[in-house]
Amino acid sequence: MATKGKGGKKGAVGAGKVSASTQTAATKVEPAKGKLGVMVVGLGAVATTMIAGVEAIRRGLAKPIGSLTQMGTIRLGKRTDNKSPLIKNFVPLADLKDIVFTGWDIFEDNVYEAAAHAAVLKPEMLKKLKPALEKIKPMPAVFDQYYVKRLHGTHVKKGKNKLDLAEQLRADIRAFKKKVDRVVMIWAASTEIFLEPKPVHRSIEAFEAGLVNNDRAIAPSQIYAYAALKEGVPFANGAPNLTVDLPVMIELSKKNSAPICGKDFKTGQTFMKTVLAPAFKARMIGVSGWFSTNILGNRDGEVLDEPQSFKTKEESKLGSLEYIFQPEIYPDLYKDIYHKIRINYYPPRGDEKEAWDNIDIFGWLGYPMQLKVNFLCRDSILAAPIALDLVLFLDLAKRTPELRSIGIQEWLSFYLKSPQTPPGLYPEHDLFIQSMKLKNTLRHIMGADLVTHLGLDYYD
Ligand SMILES: NC(=O)c1ccc[n+]([C@@H]2O[C@H](COP(=O)([O-])OP(=O)(O)OC[C@H]3O[C@@H](n4cnc5c(N)ncnc54)[C@H](O)[C@@H]3O)[C@@H](O)[C@H]2O)c1
Repeated sequence: MATKGKGGKKGAVGAGKVSASTQTAATKVEPAKGKLGVMVVGLGAVATTMIAGVEAIRRGLAKPIGSLTQMGTIRLGKRTDNKSPLIKNFVPLADLKDIVFTGWDIFEDNVYEAAAHAAVLKPEMLKKLKPALEKIKPMPAVFDQYYVKRLHGTHVKKGKNKLDLAEQLRADIRAFKKKVDRVVMIWAASTEIFLEPKPVHRSIEAFEAGLVNNDRAIAPSQIYAYAALKEGVPFANGAPNLTVDLPVMIELSKKNSAPICGKDFKTGQTFMKTVLAPAFKARMIGVSGWFSTNILGNRDGEVLDEPQSFKTKEESKLGSLEYIFQPEIYPDLYKDIYHKIRINYYPPRGDEKEAWDNIDIFGWLGYPMQLKVNFLCRDSILAAPIALDLVLFLDLAKRTPELRSIGIQEWLSFYLKSPQTPPGLYPEHDLFIQSMKLKNTLRHIMGADLVTHLGLDYYD
């Protein structure tokens, strides 16, 4: 069955490009006119794989596999209507040919050099893209080794205090805005040490005072986010750092119509967890233990080898099972799960991570069983399309009157290990609920009927 979206016109959406007349003036999504500027913090493995990938796709050298915005379709109306346009033809997304990239890094390597160093994409492919990639040179970063112990940055901004550094980033954003029509920022930089919210994060005033006083609780990622949100620029966080999941950032996001979402790209092991755990729960299969280990040899692996950065990642990875299983509602099935996560830095593997999961489950009358998952993946190949989709959807949110000033875009939880929600609302980690939420949000903003999957009307 299809339900009417708020403010929508029933059955108004066709199978091809959506017509502007199907939306009311108050809900109309603005078109994606002109250039979309993407400011990437950290031009490492994920960022360069995304940028080189977009360049390769623009030239017809490869397909955007793994990207929902580029390859996904969306069903409209009833199953019998046979209307499933591509998402990018249904909602007005920026075209890949209109994206312009820039970024910051603590090393001076241009995107070609950084991509070659990351060694994710084959040299033959990178050579074809070299002229375009070497033009993208990082701006000096805001960095402090206190927050990422394993890195020694050389290409770094200097300022009299953290407010001065934020002002320098804002100047970078304003300069870039002159070259493009719209801007989105994404953090694809290293994972910072584990930090907890402090009084300095409670309000804009407290945070700005903290910037002046060089408060230790303010990490570089927060300075970038502050700069973006002050400039009305949407911000996505690909790492598990404490960055926009703070009252000050939510306040800024709403005030300046700069959408934010959760954090930490949901790529390999957690992606699988949020598929398998809902399956066990749907069938009332119990779980007594879930042991997850990884070997990883890229720079991210090296940073995560440091205990304080690992703690940040561990917290982000641990959350999903607890929320999916709801042990308080199902104590007989999930009350005593032993959940353990390990990440081991193992250089020979580079970006080609290997993850093992051993899952101890139990069924009818409590009889035990086991499931083993061995995922031989490529970290940045999984993350790059997620980064691209987040950028495109945040730009869409910024152009959508109903979404741009609500702050957190919970419908983007689909992509993230740590979805963000307002205080008091538990996050949805189940990948299929997240997928439905995302697609229904797209239907809703375009004035199309929501799909609830009830389907009784087929039997009238
Ligand atoms: N690849 C995945 O599957 C995946 C999944 C979830 C999260 N992540 C996160 O995404 C981030 C990027 O991963 P990666 O594999 O590209 O790592 P990477 O080490 O290859 O790249 C990170 C880049 O950020 C730069 N950097 C560090 N601090 C900076 C700062 N303050 N300002 C500007 N640049 C800075 C580093 O110099 C480096 O070039 C990591 O935090 C990682 O944990 C990756």
